[in-house]
Amino acid sequence: MAKLAVLVSGTGSLLKAMLDQKLYPDLIIADRPCRAIDTVAPLEARRVPARLIERTDFSSSFDREAYTEKVLEALTDWDIDLIAMAGFMTLFSKKLFDVYGGRVLNTHPSLLPEHKGRHAVRDALASGARVTGCTIHRATVEMDEGEILAQYSVPIHEGDTEKTLHERIKEMERKWYPRIIRRELALLT
Ligand code: GRF
Repeated sequence: MAKLAVLVSGTGSLLKAMLDQKLYPDLIIADRPCRAIDTVAPLEARRVPARLIERTDFSSSFDREAYTEKVLEALTDWDIDLIAMAGFMTLFSKKLFDVYGGRVLNTHPSLLPEHKGRHAVRDALASGARVTGCTIHRATVEMDEGEILAQYSVPIHEGDTEKTLHERIKEMERKWYPRIIRRELALLT
């Protein structure tokens, strides 16, 4: 079987959904201490190794090349074939995509190309649209670009907040992202 790494920065509900669907990554990497790595990953600690490769600099002088090298080193040490970003908040430099081009997946909480960027859910709400959703795609060096593998729509309800809407989108992501990752892994095997 091809080997999977899941990259996290946040609450880890997508990671939890993968584990619940018995999709066990070969490696979990977090870029910061977060619930995903502190609470969710240890649930399966004996089965899945988790590594914190901490990003300490969030300023404009962040050395993206050096950070990308560190992550690449871990991925190649573990012979990882496929990378799935699951709420991972650091952009990599081109080097990662030179090595893993086409084998980096991401899920984004909007119907791309609508609402790229960090505030996708807030932007969808503010746009007055009645529908938004999630996009599962191959990641490239350009944020929220790359071949779209699947999109799922959800309604925007009267009175939705960023939180309630994001949760409705995440239900779709939790259901479908693990299945698409599994399919991609099978294609690489
Ligand atoms: C998801 O909505 C994903 O699209 C976005 O971050 C969220 C991750 O949620 N990039 P969680 O940390 O897995 O709960």
